[in-house]
Amino acid sequence: MEYKQLKDFMWEENILSDGIKYTDHTWISLANKFRIGLELTNSQRSDKIRRLAKKFKNYDPNEITIEKEGLYVILGCMHVPFHNKKFFDSILEYIYDVKPQGLILLGDFVDLHSLSSYDRHKVNIPITTFKEYAEANKALDILDSVFNGDKYYLFGNHEARAIKFHNDVANHRLGKETSCPIHQMKLIERNYKVLDNYNEARIIIGDVLNCHGWYHNKHSADKHITQMNRSVFMPHTHRFNVSSDNKYIGYNVGFGGNIKSSVFNYGTKPMKGIWKNSFATQFLYKGKNSVNPILWKGSHFSVNDKIY
Ligand SMILES: [Fe+2]
Repeated sequence: MEYKQLKDFMWEENILSDGIKYTDHTWISLANKFRIGLELTNSQRSDKIRRLAKKFKNYDPNEITIEKEGLYVILGCMHVPFHNKKFFDSILEYIYDVKPQGLILLGDFVDLHSLSSYDRHKVNIPITTFKEYAEANKALDILDSVFNGDKYYLFGNHEARAIKFHNDVANHRLGKETSCPIHQMKLIERNYKVLDNYNEARIIIGDVLNCHGWYHNKHSADKHITQMNRSVFMPHTHRFNVSSDNKYIGYNVGFGGNIKSSVFNYGTKPMKGIWKNSFATQFLYKGKNSVNPILWKGSHFSVNDKIY
């Protein structure tokens, strides 16, 4: 039985929102398709799948709600292999120390410069996609060696480059596996729960919606809370700021890239001047989320009186 596939199918076919108005025959063929209740009679099988549809009613394949209380480490925009390696090493040490409940990679973990459509006819940095994935795998291997909790990977606009690449008719024939981050970085084998739709993907922790970031301006944190009408946490712009109105808080929480890498030369000097290396923790307790952005000070960061 494959409930995830069934849920996704029901979502895509509008079966969940259309309501439960199908005939027994439709339910039975759906049960057969997903091999559910094959040991039951036709009417029991129809009932079973109808009950499942009711249960899945609020399912959205692009959203994960985290309910387990505890500490979550959130890394956004690491841009491996163009990451700040000292910063990353310090984060690894911190994760090893605090043993969080969960780790959330909030998009652009891998840069995929090689698949960028920006300046696409020039080779600015001669790196192959396979090399980028190899470096990302090394970084994920090290994370796996220090962390053994719940893992989440949400696609950013850089992972979305791989999907765009695959959807180009000239590349389609190579097969999705050649460019797919899930496959190339063995995310399922590594036990990551993956949200791969950059335009929709979000992880809810208590009262905060975590997304990669969809709006890009100087006041992105503010823009997100206004548009989403709730508290939002996002990296994406590489800027570091917190904004609040009378009800919600928006966190725009930096990035993990090496600012000196020429891969970031699309940013002007003043723009890069306000980019900050940063990550964050979120602590879920009794349905409320305490967000703690942690800023790299050029050679270290400090948490709980310890220097990393
Ligand atoms: Fe991004």
